[in-house]
Amino acid sequence: MNEPMLKVSGLNAFYGRAHILFDIDLEVGRGEVVALMGRNGAGKSTTMKALMGLLPRKQGLVTFRGADISTLPPYRIARMGMGFVPEDRRVFSDLTVMENLDAGRQPPRDGAPRWTPDKLFRLFPNLGEMPGRLGSQMSGGEQQMLTVSRTLMGNPWLVLLDEPSEGVAPVIVEQMANMILELKREGLSILLSEQNLHFAGLVSDRAYVLEKGHIRFSGTIDELAKDEAARRAWLSV
Ligand SMILES: Nc1ncnc2c1ncn2[C@@H]1O[C@H](COP(=O)(O)OP(=O)(O)O)[C@@H](O)[C@H]1O
Ligand SMILES: [Mg+2]
Repeated sequence: MNEPMLKVSGLNAFYGRAHILFDIDLEVGRGEVVALMGRNGAGKSTTMKALMGLLPRKQGLVTFRGADISTLPPYRIARMGMGFVPEDRRVFSDLTVMENLDAGRQPPRDGAPRWTPDKLFRLFPNLGEMPGRLGSQMSGGEQQMLTVSRTLMGNPWLVLLDEPSEGVAPVIVEQMANMILELKREGLSILLSEQNLHFAGLVSDRAYVLEKGHIRFSGTIDELAKDEAARRAWLSV
């Protein structure tokens, strides 16, 4: 059982005839938080969609807990315990907080962290104060917390988090960072897409940097923080 949680080898992905990802290799170890970094359009979201089986055209090998999931449809991948929080954080707007959570419920998995609404409300006290609130009546930050919580209700082994800090207020960003650290303490493995080196540095063990669909850097966050040339070339600052 020493294989990594997720191992990706030679992943290529396409939208129609446009070739978007080129020979991506990456790994997420058990219990590890790994940042997938890069500017807008670098291919972060495409990588996550490809891992979840959401792209019709891709090549390469993806193994999840040792099983080849390269050609499985999204619902099978989700049922195996890979959770995905997409960047457009879609809550069900005419369902309540509690109903949204119920929609994400899956049976517990031996060895994976287990979640209940009560446990999630301890993680996100704001949500605990509004279990009957409709999705449509929540702020962007609250919706972000709810989509993360709904995904956790599936008791996943691994969560793909697509830019959780994007477009939310600074106070929510801080809560997001604390939430990710708490999930790590629970033993969850996380692949986090992120543009912001500061945020990535607060929560991640390692980072990959994408540019134009190629991995340009792989190493620890400290190594990336010290590598000014790499940051200038492939990140915003
Ligand atoms: N549905 C789509 N159809 C065609 N091209 C797309 C589509 N979605 C994204 N792209 C292109 O794929 C590239 C990578 O995009 P994306 O993965 O969304 O980047 P990131 O998440 O890093 O900002 C960009 O050049 C983008 O324009
Ligand atoms: Mg994106």
